[in-house]
Amino acid sequence: MITQWLPQYQAQIESHIHDCFDRRYTSKEAVEITFEKAMRHAVEWGGKRLRTVLASVAYEHYSHKNSSDILPSIIGIEMIHAYTLVHDDLPCMDNDDIRRGKPTVWKQYGETMAVLVGDGLQTLGFELLAQSGDIRVIQEMTRAMGDWWVVRGQVRDTMIRHDSLALEELLRIHDEKTGIFIAASLLVGAYLAHISDDEVDSLRHFGMFLGRAFQIRDDILDVEWDAWEVGKKVWKDVKAGKGIVALIGLEASKELLSRYEEEMMTFTRSLRDEKFSDIVTFVVQRQK
Ligand code: IPE
Ligand code: IPE
Ligand code: MG
Ligand code: MG
Ligand code: MG
Repeated sequence: MITQWLPQYQAQIESHIHDCFDRRYTSKEAVEITFEKAMRHAVEWGGKRLRTVLASVAYEHYSHKNSSDILPSIIGIEMIHAYTLVHDDLPCMDNDDIRRGKPTVWKQYGETMAVLVGDGLQTLGFELLAQSGDIRVIQEMTRAMGDWWVVRGQVRDTMIRHDSLALEELLRIHDEKTGIFIAASLLVGAYLAHISDDEVDSLRHFGMFLGRAFQIRDDILDVEWDAWEVGKKVWKDVKAGKGIVALIGLEASKELLSRYEEEMMTFTRSLRDEKFSDIVTFVVQRQK
């Protein structure tokens, strides 16, 4: 059961994030203090830390070691993730006011600061990941976050009409904007554990499915839960005719999700590691 281990992983990640900012930020000058507060606002408190948890679990599975040694570096994943959210919430993107139950960075600190915080978080994230000294980690993550994947997915998500999409086209957006980052996070942990080349492909394949399922669940949460629970505005995608629920309906979205769940469980059973199946269950059932 995920409740038996996830909170502890999340708490450790949270504490490494605080330490990183505490060590880094000691400014006395007003403008810098505001910037640093905005950086912390974007990352600290409230996130599920799923992507960093995935890196930790993959590392532990393939290395049989505790992941605490790699945490100072892999919290870079949380910085990069927070950057995507800060920019995703901007008025020119999804125009959102609430994130993790708090005002979004642009709402609290203004748009200019939010753009700069996003820039600062992305580069900080890669600086931390680079401390691992593993070039494959950097290659995997830069490729995932760049023009081929996340950025391209966000371009498609914000710039094309969603009402006339085919399901395959929408799923491609899900893979680009969300799936690839989830897959890359697993691979970061696996590379640091020196995973063999023939294991990389099946892990990547699983990660893409997990990411797709994660985004489908995100679209379902938009209509199924209240904003207080989810910590962000709801009924937004479906009103705008966006996302999988608007395209194929709630029941069909749930059916697709459970089909993916079964496929993912076939892989996790082969790993013989309960943490992986716990994660699958968490992703398809999460309520925030
Ligand atoms: C939100 O990601 C962005 C999506 C890809 C749907 P999370 O739901 O992981 O956000 P936090 O970090 O837990 O707030
Ligand atoms: C976010 O997708 C994907 C990225 C930030 C790359 P959404 O726009 O669906 O995420 P939420 O619902 O705002 O968290
Ligand atoms: Mg978006
Ligand atoms: Mg959004
Ligand atoms: Mg969403």
